[in-house]
Amino acid sequence: MTAPQILTILGSILFVLGGLATFVIAYRRGPGSWEEQLDKDARKADRSRIPSVFTRSKAAEVPEPTVESLPTSVAVAVVEEPVEKVHSVVELSASEQGVNRRQFFNRALAASFFGTLGTFGIASLAFSWPKVSGGFGSDVSAGPVQAIKDAIAQPDGTITPFYLPAAKAWIVPVSDSVLPNSQFAEDLTVADGLTALWQKCVHLGCAVPWCQSSQGFECPCHGSKYNQIGEYEAGPAPRNLDRFVVEVDAKGEFIIKTGSVIPTERAPVKSVKYPQGVFCTAAAAE
Ligand code: FES
Repeated sequence: MTAPQILTILGSILFVLGGLATFVIAYRRGPGSWEEQLDKDARKADRSRIPSVFTRSKAAEVPEPTVESLPTSVAVAVVEEPVEKVHSVVELSASEQGVNRRQFFNRALAASFFGTLGTFGIASLAFSWPKVSGGFGSDVSAGPVQAIKDAIAQPDGTITPFYLPAAKAWIVPVSDSVLPNSQFAEDLTVADGLTALWQKCVHLGCAVPWCQSSQGFECPCHGSKYNQIGEYEAGPAPRNLDRFVVEVDAKGEFIIKTGSVIPTERAPVKSVKYPQGVFCTAAAAE
């Protein structure tokens, strides 16, 4: 798994968790929730515990009864009662009050939500960003041409194709005697006597292995067969194996351009002898 894919998965998980946390907190703090009820109760308790300035102020506005306005018996009682002192109140500015609990949680929630959203966005961007080098879809070097040819040629005159996993390709030789009469004489799929075949079967996409005894490619899924340069020979496959544009660079390395796939129709005339021995898979109906 590539780094962008891992980032995308992590971003998605964080995004889902962030959304879930947002929903849960919003639900718990919503109308009728126990937290809201708790807040109401706490405020009510606070009001009853702290002397209310406004209540006192209103009380202060009520005209004090005078001794003259009351009956004698009541006036004596009023005069003797101690006068309660009205508390003074200093109003605090917003900066002096600081951040309350509700504001703190709201800001933390917003920060985590946008942080998660940002992570998800960056991961998505990294996943969609085109690869500039290495891996399937770009130019892949198979190494020095001569080393590949040496690995392919066998002492008994047969060949064993050179497989390059990074390009998902089989590299096979196309000799100068074969090339002019093949379908590939005019395209860019042969360089320095080598061509690169995509290992994917053109029928339904199975990986096609090499069969040393028949000197061809035989698909294990439905039995399609291709000769050693990838020309269609038998089975349900609709065309030859697809091939890539190739070149030899300044350092003498064989480069496979896996972003440039060249499909070709079934060859009307086969360029190489096939089979050259027994098949590895059973023959399939065409
Ligand atoms: S996938 Fe290869 S023959 Fe069907």
